[in-house]
Amino acid sequence: MNSRESGVEGLSEGLSERCKRYIARVAGLVDGFIYAKVHGDPEDIYDASLHLIRAGGKRLRPVIVVASAEALGEEAEKALPFAAAVELIHNFTLVHDDIMDRDEFRRGVPTVHKLWGEPMAIIAGDLLFAKAFEVLVDARDKGVPSQRVVEAARVLAKASSIIAEGQSMDMMFEEEEEVEVEEYMRMVYKKTGALFEAAAVLGGLTSTDEDNVLSALSAYGRNFGIAFQIRDDILGLVGDEETIGKPLYSDIREGKKTLLVIYALSKLDEDAREKIKMTLGKRDATREELEEAAELIKSSGAIDYAEKLAEYHVSQALNALKSLPSNEYRSILEELALYAAKRVK
Ligand code: IPE
Ligand code: IPE
Ligand code: MG
Ligand code: MG
Repeated sequence: MNSRESGVEGLSEGLSERCKRYIARVAGLVDGFIYAKVHGDPEDIYDASLHLIRAGGKRLRPVIVVASAEALGEEAEKALPFAAAVELIHNFTLVHDDIMDRDEFRRGVPTVHKLWGEPMAIIAGDLLFAKAFEVLVDARDKGVPSQRVVEAARVLAKASSIIAEGQSMDMMFEEEEEVEVEEYMRMVYKKTGALFEAAAVLGGLTSTDEDNVLSALSAYGRNFGIAFQIRDDILGLVGDEETIGKPLYSDIREGKKTLLVIYALSKLDEDAREKIKMTLGKRDATREELEEAAELIKSSGAIDYAEKLAEYHVSQALNALKSLPSNEYRSILEELALYAAKRVK
C-alpha cells in the first residue's frame, strides 16, 4: 500500500453512495497512475514531492477530469494522464501555498516544508509542476489526438500562470486595509477557480474540441472552484480542525482578506472592526485572540452571506451542465457541485 486512502475518507457528508464509490474508483486509478510515473533519484526529493499525495486528499479535480470525459462518452482510462497532471499541479500549489501561508499541517500531516525545510519544499513543488506536463503528454498513448494534447498542455500551463497571479494577489491583499468583493472574486477565480476550470476542460478535450462543449465545461469548473474556495474560507473559520486536516484561523493570523473578513469589516461597528484589525495579520496572535476575532467575524452574519454567494456559483455551475448529454456522469458532476458549497472537509 503506497498511501492512506485518498478520495473518499471523510467525504461521507452529503454525498450519495454512488458518488462516493465513483470518487473511490477514480482516486484509485489516478493514484496508481501517479505512483507509476513519479519516482526517481534522489529518493529524498521524490519522498518530499509525494508526501502530501500519500497523506490523502479528496482528489476532486481529477474526479472532475474523468467524470467530464465519461459524460462525453469516453473511457476513464483515456482521461487518466490529464487527471494525474491536474492533481500534480494541485499538489505543487499546495506545497508552495503552505510555505507562503506558514502552515504547519495539511491532510492531517506536517507540511512538506516542516519536514524537509523550505529549500527542499520549493524543489519538491517544482518537481511536481514539471512531472504534471511530462505525464500529461502520455494522453497520446491513450488515444487522444496530438492536437488536443497540445491544447490540453496550453490550458494547463495557462491555468498555472493564472494561479500564480491569484496567489500573488492573495498575498498582496494581506497588506491592504480594504479589499472589495469584486477584487476578492477575481483573486479566488485565479487562485482556485482556474484549476477547476482547467480540470473540466481537460476532461472535455479527451473527447472533443467543440467550443460550445468546452465553454460549458469551463463555466462549470470556474463556478465550482469559486464556490469551493468560498467554502474553504468558511471552513477555515468554523470547520473541525481534525476533519479538515488543516489549521483553523490561519487566514486571520496571516491577515487574509477572506470573503468573511471583507464582509465583517464592511458591516461591523468601528469598535468591532478595530478589534478584528488588531488580530488580523498578527503572526504571534494567541489562540484566544484568534477565537475572539473569529467570533466577531461570525457575529456580522458573514457566514450566511458567504454561503449564499457560494450557492449562487453552484447554481451557475449546474446551469452550465445543462447543455451536456444527460447521463450518470453528468449527474456525478452535478452532485459534486452541490457538495462544493456544503462540504465539511
Ligand atoms: C485545498 O484544496 C486548496 C484550495 C483550493 C482550497 P482541496 O480542499 O481540494 O484539498 P485536498 O486535495 O482535498 O487536500
Ligand atoms: C488555495 O489557497 C489556493 C491554492 C493552494 C493555490 P488557500 O491558502 O486558501 O487554501 P488552504 O486553506 O491553505 O488549503
Ligand atoms: Mg493556504
Ligand atoms: Mg494560501
